[in-house]
Amino acid sequence: MTTHTIAVVGSGYMGGGIAQVLALSGATVRIADISEEIARKNYDRLIAEAEQFVADGLFPADAVERIRANVSPAASIEEAVTGADFIEEAVPEKIEIKHETLRRISAAASPDAIIGSNTSTILIGSLAEAVTNPERFLGVHFSNPAPFIPGVELIPHETTADAAIATVEEIVAATGKETARVKDATGFVLNRLQYALFHEATQLVEEGVATPEDIDTIVRTTFGFRLPVFGPFAIADMAGLDVYSFCYASLQTRWPERFATPDSLKELVDAGKFGTKSGAGYLDVPADRTPELIAYRNKAYVAIKQLMDELGPAPIN
Ligand SMILES: NC(=O)c1ccc[n+]([C@@H]2O[C@H](COP(=O)([O-])OP(=O)(O)OC[C@H]3O[C@@H](n4cnc5c(N)ncnc54)[C@H](O)[C@@H]3O)[C@@H](O)[C@H]2O)c1
Repeated sequence: MTTHTIAVVGSGYMGGGIAQVLALSGATVRIADISEEIARKNYDRLIAEAEQFVADGLFPADAVERIRANVSPAASIEEAVTGADFIEEAVPEKIEIKHETLRRISAAASPDAIIGSNTSTILIGSLAEAVTNPERFLGVHFSNPAPFIPGVELIPHETTADAAIATVEEIVAATGKETARVKDATGFVLNRLQYALFHEATQLVEEGVATPEDIDTIVRTTFGFRLPVFGPFAIADMAGLDVYSFCYASLQTRWPERFATPDSLKELVDAGKFGTKSGAGYLDVPADRTPELIAYRNKAYVAIKQLMDELGPAPIN
């Protein structure tokens, strides 16, 4: 397997965590920031955090040793990116700062070094304007806290080369995280879904339907409880798309537009594809695997409940 030389530019909260996980995967990582002094300070912070994670049993026992061996603070962005084959930008979410940083990275890096941005919300196509050879540029969106959230959204823009995406997939896979490819569209997938849920939750509070505390309880203990195991399409397929269709009709009695039946749902139901019970839906799970799926689901939910009981409630209230 290739050992990658990686630069993380912007070594704050996200950049520090990203540097930790990349270093633990065996990559050589240089971190850069506004100045050498800040990069050094951030290096000390990420080592101290890693020590705490080891003490808490969250990182392997030899993690600090491995991170020390693989991560170093650089004097400048230029020094960090020279000789790097992958560069992850994690500077603040302001397009001017990102453009300026991407220009400096492009000017100093090897012309074929792959460049990723950890942007949460800015269109990758807009950031690409500041990158020379933009076919080597894409969104590589780690979530917070980067050391522990196992998914990374990959967002190629219109001209990103397939080979660049494949290399990033390999780099992220080496960290033990999972990737999914997403088109360059406002909010990408993660934030568009997260904010859609938050939007509806705030409407419920503002309408006086339930308190924030009760809404959080319902999300945690009912449909949100399924989410570590299944996404919305697996859940819909298992619930039955015909059932979803009836529920939409009911929601439409109050909000005809907001809860209009999705075209894709209507098409599947019209074609007799009701989800797992009919052997076809959004995800084509063969009907003969349904018992296996149900058994897995039940086992997963019991295991998650046991884990939650062991952890106890979050110290929020
Ligand atoms: N914090 C989150 O929950 C989260 C989650 C996912 C993605 N992100 C994204 O990650 C990126 C970084 O966010 P963060 O929370 O780590 O911010 P942060 O403020 O903790 O870190 C940003 C770092 O960039 C440095 N920096 C600022 N200007 C710079 C420059 N010109 N050159 C080099 N370094 C510079 C800062 O000194 C700081 O260390 C943002 O795009 C953000 O949207 C954040």
